Amino acid sequence: MTVPTVTLPLPDGSTAEMPMIGFGTWRTRGDEAYTATRAALDAGYRHIDTATMYDNEAEVGRALRDSGVPREDVFITTKLLSEDAGREKQALTGSLRKLGVQQVDLWLIHWPPGGLAAPEVWRELIGAQDHGFVRSIGVSNYSPEQIDELTDATGRPPVVDQVPWSPARHDAALLADLRARNVVVEGYGPIKRTPMSAPALLEIAARHGKTPAQVVLRWHLQHRIVIIPKSVRPERIAENIDLFGFALTDAEMQTLDKL
Ligand SMILES: NC(=O)c1ccc[n+]([C@@H]2O[C@H](COP(=O)([O-])OP(=O)(O)OC[C@H]3O[C@@H](n4cnc5c(N)ncnc54)[C@H](OP(=O)(O)O)[C@@H]3O)[C@@H](O)[C@H]2O)c1
Repeated sequence: MTVPTVTLPLPDGSTAEMPMIGFGTWRTRGDEAYTATRAALDAGYRHIDTATMYDNEAEVGRALRDSGVPREDVFITTKLLSEDAGREKQALTGSLRKLGVQQVDLWLIHWPPGGLAAPEVWRELIGAQDHGFVRSIGVSNYSPEQIDELTDATGRPPVVDQVPWSPARHDAALLADLRARNVVVEGYGPIKRTPMSAPALLEIAARHGKTPAQVVLRWHLQHRIVIIPKSVRPERIAENIDLFGFALTDAEMQTLDKL
């Protein structure tokens, strides 16, 4: 299965490819996190989303090693706990050790520390990138204005903003604002934040012979929003990456934009 990618610019002028479908791992821990991540890698996911906060980096790392999928084939994101502001190096060392990797593909500030942009924390992410411990750096739950603050302070813009997204909270203006800054939008909570039994959604799903979840996820992809759906059930894990071979029409996209 070939999952499309988005291209992330790197400071040296080269680029990195980020698969548009990743596997979300929030609220899975221990054996469940290990088993679900193995199932995701078996199902073809080559992008995993974890965080220091999720307390599952060790299981994600073990699942990756045991899967036999080469490290370089998998895009790994982890996130700095906002409470670890001031202890960024220790936090990253811990993440790399638990994951069992020398570099993560993307390191995000999980939330604006204390609700603020925190350029001093962003400088630490830049340092980690310059030292090669992380390939790309970005933020999560940041507003466009907070992103501007980081860029203005350092000259290095975040390349990704991971924010809540779903048809029910589609915000075309925010999408445009982030894209105007060359920030890739990564949406979280696509399924959880959608009224899955909305008649319009059920009707579109029936028309395509797909599940409502597949329609919602496909809607994100057609908006060029990176998705990281989470499930611990192998059949859903497979379903959530099986999004090709059908396309929503412009009219269906507009219906879902207003869901
Ligand atoms: N940066 C942040 O602040 C932030 C915040 C929240 C989430 N995230 C990331 O985004 C990922 C996704 O968000 P999320 O986990 O909150 O929500 P989500 O992926 O939208 O939804 C997960 C829920 O939907 C169920 N589900 C999964 N596939 C389904 C399907 N095909 N049909 C019906 N139900 C399905 C899951 O249950 P089962 O597991 O029982 O299948 C689970 O209860 C997280 O795992 C995490 O990696 C980031």
